[in-house]
Amino acid sequence: MDATTPYREIDAPSDRFRVRWFDQLPSTNDYALEAGRVGEAAGLVVIADHQTEGRGRLGRKWETEPGAALLGSLLLRPEGGVHDAHRYTTVVAVALMNAVEKVTGVRPQLKWPNDLVWQERKLAGVLTEFEDGPNGYLLVVGAGTNVSPVAPEYATLAVSCEELKGTPVDREALLRAWLESLHALLDEPDVALDAARRDSATLKKKVRAELSEGEIVGIAVDLSRSGGLVVETAPGTTTEVTAGDVVHLHDA
Ligand code: BTN
Repeated sequence: MDATTPYREIDAPSDRFRVRWFDQLPSTNDYALEAGRVGEAAGLVVIADHQTEGRGRLGRKWETEPGAALLGSLLLRPEGGVHDAHRYTTVVAVALMNAVEKVTGVRPQLKWPNDLVWQERKLAGVLTEFEDGPNGYLLVVGAGTNVSPVAPEYATLAVSCEELKGTPVDREALLRAWLESLHALLDEPDVALDAARRDSATLKKKVRAELSEGEIVGIAVDLSRSGGLVVETAPGTTTEVTAGDVVHLHDA
């Protein structure tokens, strides 16, 4: 990837966003971070048909077939710096949930921290990365959403927009719906947090979480304002999980 990699510009539904759509990049998050480092303003949206070094959370790889997913990253520069990272990650995830509902007619749920799921099968994953650099604080929120049907060997674990809808889904239409919802929610992060609570696949479930100080098991009772998962480990005793993954054990 370098500054000369060709891209097309897509008309965005709001002048708050500038969309660059690439055939291929190593990672849309890397591109957005690098653009931010050299002074790009907030609102850059980077899309690629294919990534050669796509990254998932917790050091995992994120691999999809060319053209099969909507792979996108948004560059933000929130005033609250790192303290806003979880809030804006929730905004991006809820906007994506709204967009999927708009184009497929089916509303997915959010598995904490930010996976979009439908009947416990993964539809989309979100990766947030931040940096405090010479040109200020950068927050990049990237999401990969399965659009074309997933391979049969992943059918119990993953699902796609086209499987939810039953007919083809246009990735550009999904992007436009995502940006429309983002435009509204970026000014109302608390509305996104309420939607994340309402449509959570994790709240009210018994969960297991690995923390640095050991494993905890309890009932997921709330999302904190900063996006953490509040787990009740004994009556009246709660722990906030702020990083990592949780395993859903069963309904509480
Ligand atoms: C996860 O579920 O582990 C998060 C996956 C995030 C993947 C997206 S695809 C677009 C953006 N670019 C990357 O390299 N990763 C994110």
